[in-house]
Amino acid sequence: MSSSEILLEVRHLSKKFADSEPLKDVNCSVRRGEVISIIGPSGTGKSTFLRCINRLEKPSGGQIFFRGEEITDEPGKIRRLRQKIGMVFQSFNLFSNMNVLENIITAPMLLKKFNRADATEKAMRLLETVELKQKAANYPDELSGGQKQRIAIVRTLAMEPEIILFDEPHTR
Ligand SMILES: Nc1ncnc2c1ncn2[C@@H]1O[C@H](COP(=O)(O)OP(=O)(O)O)[C@@H](O)[C@H]1O
Ligand SMILES: [Mg+2]
Repeated sequence: MSSSEILLEVRHLSKKFADSEPLKDVNCSVRRGEVISIIGPSGTGKSTFLRCINRLEKPSGGQIFFRGEEITDEPGKIRRLRQKIGMVFQSFNLFSNMNVLENIITAPMLLKKFNRADATEKAMRLLETVELKQKAANYPDELSGGQKQRIAIVRTLAMEPEIILFDEPHTR
């Protein structure tokens, strides 16, 4: 696989809401290994763009391709592809009723059919890389903003995505 493989291609993407049109003819392509930042004032469509990519919003027009396969034509496809396009939300969206470990292992167990022991081992390894192994049994309310963010990143990494979308990736 070449290092310059195009993973994501966006063509003529548009999104209209009832009273705004944040995305108008947006085009871009993202190659494996590239890091791309989208910068702009509040309310200009950055989150909407990311949400269209993994289909949390339905685009009004245009096409999105993941490794050459169109993902805008058939909503069913995105369920499978969403596992390859991870997202770290602006507010992190950790499950408040689950501890850190459960937050991380639930999706790999449900969607990737990892057994609990393997999912846990992998989660603990990832937690070690962000120096939060000691928080595995804590609940999200017991963490600082920066710690929640690192857990949200680990939760995404545990699914082994090919692309990660970060919405406002700063520590709050
Ligand atoms: N679900 C929605 N329904 C209606 N309008 C929305 C919705 N989501 C976002 N918008 C509008 O789209 C515009 C872009 O919002 P957003 O993508 O959140 O901007 P940013 O992330 O750059 O701050 C804003 O005018 C916002 O009010
Ligand atoms: Mg935003």
